[in-house]
Amino acid sequence: MSVRRSLVIGTVGLATVLAAQTTALALPSADSAGAQAAAAARPPGAIVEGSLRALASTTGLRIGTAVNTDLLGEDAAYTEIVNREFNTITPENVMKWEVVEPQQGVFDFTGADEIVKSAQANGQLVRGHTLVWHSQLPAWMATNGGTTTTLTDQQVKDAVKKHVQAEAGRYKGRIWAWDVVNEAFNEDGTPRQSIFYKAWGNSTDYIADAFRWADQADPSAKLFYNDYNIEYTGPKSQAVYDLVKKLKAQKVPIDGVGFQTHLSTQYGFPDLQATMQRFADLGLDVAETEVDVRTAVKPGATEGTFTSEPLSALHAYTQQAYWDQTMKACLFVQRCVSYTVWGVADSNSWIPGVFPGEGAALLFDDDYQAKPEYTVISQDLALAAGKARHRTGEGSGGR
Ligand code: XIL
Repeated sequence: MSVRRSLVIGTVGLATVLAAQTTALALPSADSAGAQAAAAARPPGAIVEGSLRALASTTGLRIGTAVNTDLLGEDAAYTEIVNREFNTITPENVMKWEVVEPQQGVFDFTGADEIVKSAQANGQLVRGHTLVWHSQLPAWMATNGGTTTTLTDQQVKDAVKKHVQAEAGRYKGRIWAWDVVNEAFNEDGTPRQSIFYKAWGNSTDYIADAFRWADQADPSAKLFYNDYNIEYTGPKSQAVYDLVKKLKAQKVPIDGVGFQTHLSTQYGFPDLQATMQRFADLGLDVAETEVDVRTAVKPGATEGTFTSEPLSALHAYTQQAYWDQTMKACLFVQRCVSYTVWGVADSNSWIPGVFPGEGAALLFDDDYQAKPEYTVISQDLALAAGKARHRTGEGSGGR
């Protein structure tokens, strides 16, 4: 419960810090020395006026970023942005199965512990990511992209139960929201043929079991189903809708649905607000959990390499328009409890590695300078100040 207690202290402290240090806490420069000096000059968890987290807190919306332990606490400019701008953090990789249980029954929570500790010190909540996912599984558990295994069905079931209990249990009371199950459906709305689906006898019943085990291990965490491309109306979004509706009807402990929101300007903007509202109307919280907006970028000096510079001014402008709409969609849905961007700077985004030729997908450039995208979403937050508050920060009490 210490997280929630420090949250309250953080909120009370906000007014004091803002009143006392309004001018002293102007946005600092991004260079390393400047970042270190800025961080050293204020108490951990103090809120900087004009930062995204200060603006978001006036609406009750939680604003977050994905973080990696090779940079958090190691790179001063990166760390300064994480702690100044965001009031939730999501481990980008270190809570995934291959990291926390590399060998069966052998757990390594070093990185995960680091992130939870850093969040507590900086007045941030943690979105746990993720307990049951076909990807980034350890080799003892699965091969072929999470579709085959050497284990028997019963062994898979036992391993999932043990894993969920061990990880959710370790952080009991310290995780605000868990992505309990990630990416269980194909684009055409059929269930993904993962080792979990197969072990449960070609059934999605593993999803309900995972939520029940997570709830038993950490009753105060909000429990989310999380997926990509469900922002768009279509068979996949509908399949997830049908699933969560059924889970609610069966009284399975689910609190919300996460829309990853990995967008590219080469596709049309999704009907995100209407879709999130539709899910919210089922009595669920919703969240944008992994927002980035990639676009075509200019080639680099060497063949096959790319810069983080959008191909044209139109590409850049389209990105800004998309960011604006992702934020407005969340602001207009009262049950949209949090908005998380998938990484800090273009230089540490996952996009260039996975979508060659696309990039520039985040709010800060390669040198940690805020981009126009940052300004766009901060203006949206400022415009929303004082409007109806988002339903947030309550754990699973409202389930
Ligand atoms: C990605 C990370 O960003 C990369 O660093 C890693 O190599 C692969 O996974 N959907 C998810 C995230 O739920 O966990 C993925 O994160 C991106 C897609």
